[in-house]
Amino acid sequence: MQENGPSIPRLPGFDSTAAFLREGYDFVGARCRKLGTDAFRTRMMLRPVTCATGPEAARMFYAPGRMTRRGAMPGSVVALLQDRGSVQMLDGAAHRARRGLFLDLMAPERLELARRVLAEEWQAAAAGWQGRTVTLRDAVPEVMTRTALRWCEVPVGEAEVAARTAELSAMIGAAGSIGPSYLRGSFLRARSERWARSVLRRAREEGGETGALARILAHRDADGSGLDEAEAAVELLNLLRPIVAVGRFIVFAAHALHVHRDAIVRSLAEAPGDPARILAIAQEVRRLYPFFPVIGGRVLTPFTWRGRDFAAGEWILLDLFGTGRDGGAWFLPEAFDPGRHLAGGPAAGALIPQGGGDMAGGHRCPGEWLTVALLCEGIRALLALDYRVPPQNLDIPHDHFPPWPHDGMRIDVAPGTGTAGR
Ligand code: HEM
Repeated sequence: MQENGPSIPRLPGFDSTAAFLREGYDFVGARCRKLGTDAFRTRMMLRPVTCATGPEAARMFYAPGRMTRRGAMPGSVVALLQDRGSVQMLDGAAHRARRGLFLDLMAPERLELARRVLAEEWQAAAAGWQGRTVTLRDAVPEVMTRTALRWCEVPVGEAEVAARTAELSAMIGAAGSIGPSYLRGSFLRARSERWARSVLRRAREEGGETGALARILAHRDADGSGLDEAEAAVELLNLLRPIVAVGRFIVFAAHALHVHRDAIVRSLAEAPGDPARILAIAQEVRRLYPFFPVIGGRVLTPFTWRGRDFAAGEWILLDLFGTGRDGGAWFLPEAFDPGRHLAGGPAAGALIPQGGGDMAGGHRCPGEWLTVALLCEGIRALLALDYRVPPQNLDIPHDHFPPWPHDGMRIDVAPGTGTAGR
């Protein structure tokens, strides 16, 4: 299909890696605004690349069967997040079959279970927060780790929780780093894989598993074979690690509840606790707060876009963060306005913090509904917690992937019930 539009300019300068690392989340969007385009050509890590932003670019990128994720992200990022042999590195029928493992776990009753488990774990943790200053950056990952382990029905002793929390958090925190932080992330990832293998080995021997663990053990790939121990461990971590990652969105929600308090109070005033309004706040957090800046793809099936022929193997980076702030797709895009989500869902390709396109067949994050369910529960729990926000640096840096609020989002939790209305 020929997809026309303005042509794709080339950036001056030989390579943009340094500028991307310096400007981070804003790199693609700022360049596009300056050039009056939604795509440009440059080099990253000395490789030619097309960077593209906005809903039309997302629709180009997510056309079925067009892109592979193989060779499309730095090896260091792949190794810490998805890892080799995981669903994201597969294409075609093999990908579809493996993806079924994740989608099967996202049935409404499983989302409801996740929500309930998070509510219980939050309640238990919040009981210990009363009368204290709590840094959410430090406290929320353990709540999420406990939630992830229970939701996947992975048995762990109390003594293990701290190790699992450190491992699952480090994989996310170090994915955009180089140097000591990356080495620590790799060490903890390797330790976590060894632990996941032992969990699966024990479950296979003892039998009687239910939930996610049972689904992994029963899984059959497109060729009819089951997952070997290494593949099963990688996919178990592909469930546990991102559930812990949702904790970052919950910390961002705490940031939004403070910084954008007026907009949120206005939105909730008419119908406090209304699930649609909580969901609208969650969507606004996912739209505006930084998580993954871009997703990389390499062309599998040649196509033409903006008058340019894209050959097999070409590299494209789609701007996930900037698309949420696209001036054509969103009215006053910088404003935190939950109301914009109450009139209906976003236009196709406009809200893509977790990727876009088809949920059944493409690479769009299969955990998106789970993320939204957990984030909504996190927002409800924050609204029910009696706390105030002491003075602190609330800046969120844009040159670290992904960032925390500068001071970790500290809150002074009131003594007493700890979970009373605000
Ligand atoms: C903070 C929340 C999350 C964010 C920001 C996020 C973001 C993403 C992104 C950007 C992708 C890549 C999409 C692409 O390649 O086009 C992805 C893929 C994936 N995510 Fe998530 N995700 C989150 C939560 C989850 C959860 C809760 C799960 C499961 C429990 C999950 C499991 C996966 C898997 C398995 C893939 C690979 C899918 C495939 O290649 O088919 N994610 N996610």
